[in-house]
Amino acid sequence: MQAFYLALITSALIHLTCAQFTDFLIVGGGTAGCVLASKLCVAFPNAHITILERGLPRSPQSDFLVHAPRKLFDVLGDRSVGEAITSLPDAGINGRTTVALTGATLGGSTTINGMQWTLPLPGTIEQWGVPNLTTASADPYFRRIYNKVGFGPPQNPLQYADDYVSAGVQAGFELNNNPFDTSTLRSIWQTRLSIDSNFRRNDAYSAYLRPLLDNSCAKNVAVVQGATASKIVFTQSTDSNTGATTVRATGVDTVPSPGSTHKAQRYWARREVLVTAGPYNSPKLLQLSGVGTRAVLDAAGVAQVLELPVGEATVGRASGTIPSTYSGVPDEAANNITLVNSPEARQQWEAGLGGILSTPVSAANGRAGTDAYFGCTIVPFVPGPPELRSACYHNTETTGYLRIRDSNPFSAPLLKNNFLSSQADVNRLKRCLENMADVHRQFPASFKMRFKYPPNGVVTEGYVRSVAQWGAHFVGGCAIGDVVTGEFKVKGCSGLRVIDASSIPTMPVSAGPMASVYLLAELMGDRLVEEYKGVLE
Ligand SMILES: Cc1cc2nc3c(=O)[nH]c(=O)nc-3n(C[C@H](O)[C@H](O)[C@H](O)COP(=O)(O)OP(=O)(O)OC[C@H]3O[C@@H](n4cnc5c(N)ncnc54)[C@H](O)[C@@H]3O)c2cc1C
Ligand SMILES: *[C@@H]1O[C@H](CO)[C@@H](O)[C@H](O)[C@H]1NC(C)=O
Ligand SMILES: *[C@@H]1O[C@H](CO)[C@@H](O)[C@H](O)[C@H]1NC(C)=O
Repeated sequence: MQAFYLALITSALIHLTCAQFTDFLIVGGGTAGCVLASKLCVAFPNAHITILERGLPRSPQSDFLVHAPRKLFDVLGDRSVGEAITSLPDAGINGRTTVALTGATLGGSTTINGMQWTLPLPGTIEQWGVPNLTTASADPYFRRIYNKVGFGPPQNPLQYADDYVSAGVQAGFELNNNPFDTSTLRSIWQTRLSIDSNFRRNDAYSAYLRPLLDNSCAKNVAVVQGATASKIVFTQSTDSNTGATTVRATGVDTVPSPGSTHKAQRYWARREVLVTAGPYNSPKLLQLSGVGTRAVLDAAGVAQVLELPVGEATVGRASGTIPSTYSGVPDEAANNITLVNSPEARQQWEAGLGGILSTPVSAANGRAGTDAYFGCTIVPFVPGPPELRSACYHNTETTGYLRIRDSNPFSAPLLKNNFLSSQADVNRLKRCLENMADVHRQFPASFKMRFKYPPNGVVTEGYVRSVAQWGAHFVGGCAIGDVVTGEFKVKGCSGLRVIDASSIPTMPVSAGPMASVYLLAELMGDRLVEEYKGVLE
């Protein structure tokens, strides 16, 4: 009997030391979270790191959709690995609402995203307010990330990918196949994606953290899945000499995610709480915890801890598309739905041999100068004649907001994008779409390309406003400068940082944010290791 209790107590203690009392508590096992955990666990073998991830372990089917490049459009519809947030209506897009997606599984948004590697234009990341971060100092980081994740042109590209790139060159875009060269302003390149040598999507978890859990970090990392962080725990203390009050983040409360067996419990951080819950959920978690503007917190019934403009200057870009059909050549080979869904294709891909399931959906990417970033896709599995589509993601200085509506961690936030509320944004998107129409016109006559819309490929402002959609990229909810310092510390308190897409204050110029998020996490991982050297070993 005694032995039994002893065993029980011991196992409970081990459990406590392993996860509930930890040195670094990382909230969100996504892009930035996995990078940070990997750096800290290797540098500090005797320290303990706990990752709280709301996503449950993936079903075999969801895992397949995540990793098979040809299943990108299916994974976007899988609500067990991604969250969908419906926005408020935007006047600039004719009063329509849009739906934002964000990752909800280990690996975060890199498990559902377009996988496209792009770097911001020179001189732009300097504006983010991160000390010593310049285009030049970022370069070695970008090279490291590119190689570690295994970005590159797909081994099994789309059949018409080269035609797409050639049409772009004919339309006046410069070919630039160097993934680190951002000197060409109007340029196009073969798409560069995070697909590994086994033809599987490499997400942040599989690239950075998963391999370490079997060796270097087997003992000092706890990955808790199905745990939704509901509140950051703050401890206030008053200095007996000065009377000054200080606020320190000491832990995080969790509740079970829907369908999870996780028990609601509190986790304590001896060193720091690192919030990496992503573009939408980091600002949401801060607000749920009482960090935000008085007006937002009062309206939601949350007691304020710190007055900061969390979620008050979010930056989202809209996208627009030019779809065209082709009838002069056979449908893209990888669009054969019978083959894609065949057991043979699945076996071949699962054996690491590629095949039709390894063909991605994107053909090319490029920059339309300082107007936008663009992506060229041969659309899979559309009803009717085969279709290809070019999409523009415009640069923007427009801000919106993300605000909690109540104190329930599962309530969707109020998301106001303000898409196309400025004429500059409309013009940027319009010019880029005009460029895309030109690319479509440059396809060889043998394709018999036809604009599906707009008629004759003539892009009007009305067209731009009617097609604009959520453009996948969202930053600024916990921006450096307004909410966090250049060291990513939440202003006015200690023990708390936000390091992810939400800390980027402005939209990466003519680029998607993924490479920039990886960059900031790598950089801050190194700086945290430097800072805690000697304190932890
Ligand atoms: C559909 C789509 C396509 C995209 N395509 C591209 C592209 O091709 N190229 C590009 O450059 N960028 C692209 N992006 C953007 C890019 O993927 C993101 O900017 C980036 O991955 C965000 O990283 P993050 O670390 O900020 O957040 P995420 O990677 O989203 O990680 C956040 C993590 O926190 C977890 N989490 C959230 N809330 C909680 C909570 N309360 N408790 C516990 N865990 C929580 C989430 O489940 C998730 O795992 C795309 C994004 C999407 C959604
Ligand atoms: C920035 O660079 C200067 C000069 O090399 C150095 O003293 C300083 O510590 C650096 N700051 C950070 C945050 O790395
Ligand atoms: C798909 O591939 C199968 C097997 O190669 C072939 O028999 C079929 O005709 C193809 N379908 C289409 C629509 O091309």
